[in-house]
Amino acid sequence: MRFTLPRDLYHGKGSLETLKTLKGKKAIVCVGGGSMKRFGFLDKVVEYLNEAGMEVKIFDGIEPDPSVETVMRGAQAMMEFEPDWIVAMGGGSPIDAAKAMWIKYEHPDCTFEDMCKVFGIPELRKKAHFCAIPSTSGTATEVTAFAVITDYEKGIKYPLADFEITPDIAIVDPDLAETMPKKLVAHTGMDAMTHAIEAYVSTANCDYTDPLAIHAIEMIQADLIDSYNGDMAKRDSMHNAQCLAGMAFSNALLGIVHSMAHKTGAAFADLGAHIIHGAANAMYLPKVIKFNSKDETAKKRYGVIADYMHLGGSSDDEKVDLLIKYLRGMNEKLNIPQCIKNYGADSYPTEQGFVPENVFLERLPEIAKNAIADACTGSNPRQPSQEEMEKLLKCCYYDTEVDF
Ligand SMILES: NC(=O)c1ccc[n+]([C@@H]2O[C@H](COP(=O)([O-])OP(=O)(O)OC[C@H]3O[C@@H](n4cnc5c(N)ncnc54)[C@H](O)[C@@H]3O)[C@@H](O)[C@H]2O)c1
Ligand SMILES: [Zn+2]
Repeated sequence: MRFTLPRDLYHGKGSLETLKTLKGKKAIVCVGGGSMKRFGFLDKVVEYLNEAGMEVKIFDGIEPDPSVETVMRGAQAMMEFEPDWIVAMGGGSPIDAAKAMWIKYEHPDCTFEDMCKVFGIPELRKKAHFCAIPSTSGTATEVTAFAVITDYEKGIKYPLADFEITPDIAIVDPDLAETMPKKLVAHTGMDAMTHAIEAYVSTANCDYTDPLAIHAIEMIQADLIDSYNGDMAKRDSMHNAQCLAGMAFSNALLGIVHSMAHKTGAAFADLGAHIIHGAANAMYLPKVIKFNSKDETAKKRYGVIADYMHLGGSSDDEKVDLLIKYLRGMNEKLNIPQCIKNYGADSYPTEQGFVPENVFLERLPEIAKNAIADACTGSNPRQPSQEEMEKLLKCCYYDTEVDF
């Protein structure tokens, strides 16, 4: 087994300044649509890198849920500029896109299909090293071996996975997370909770990942709701918590909550909206916990989580139910719907969401098939059949009990 993390992790307020100490000639800075520029972080990054004696180029405009096309455009920019540092800053989207660009930059012949081969990414770091600076508190892509890229032609999100794309340096500076709007805090926070819980019950869990997952769960329980309601000390703490969850799941892998989120996220994009990653996880997690708890080992592990969260309960069955109830309560406090039927185009709960029942049912077999084939399914404690996955997705649509 292998346990891999970035070589260096700088954390705490002001740690962004670490960029001054990078050694190199040219850095390309990859960012999203404008929040980092608007809040002055992009200017700071450029200033620090200049101070480090580097020539800097900015590649901006990386969209949320980045596309294969954006990855190819960014790689082209890298091939022209020839940076020896890739500095990716922002939410999961720009950092993930930059990771995929990095692969293409180092290996121009590598196609998107090649990149999708799980743990099959060719050796990197011959041309550049990678520094990741997260501005959301959820994906933890700054420490993970994953990048999620969307193929909009197919309407499918593909997780790229290999320790090659684990960044060299992560800078976890909570100043960047303080500017997040509430909705983003909610979604990314529940993404982090899902990472920690899925990592803890994953079949690839181990002594190295368990303490990281459990501590992350405790911290998220203590911090997320207050962070959402504007407590900045808790917001800072959440930035660390999500990173710990990332260290756990990058090495213990995930489960079918993520498989389902990946395969439903863009499946209804033609209807004008995405099911945002963190919100999808928040809705599906309680359902998957019930489904997985038919596996005895998983049930015991959910019981341990409930104990660490001080939820009470005298049997593991009771603890599983209390955990589910608690997580649903968190969704409520964070204004996240409990099911796809009630998921509005703006991500808020509504009577009739943006995914009509007939469209959902029509696409269900295909979505279920794709979810089973997702890279995150292999480490789930219970392997779903096509029929079970369809039933589970239906429970996630209608918010009905999982009793199979
Ligand atoms: N690589 C991984 O290990 C991993 C894990 C989970 C999810 N993901 C993927 O990451 C993506 C989601 O990333 P995300 O949730 O971080 O959101 P995101 O990167 O998609 O950003 C969402 C929006 O928030 C804005 N934003 C970001 N930081 C901000 C800040 N500090 N202040 C104000 N606005 C800010 C962005 O401009 C953007 O409009 C999805 O594609 C998901 O599938 C990756
Ligand atoms: Zn996630």
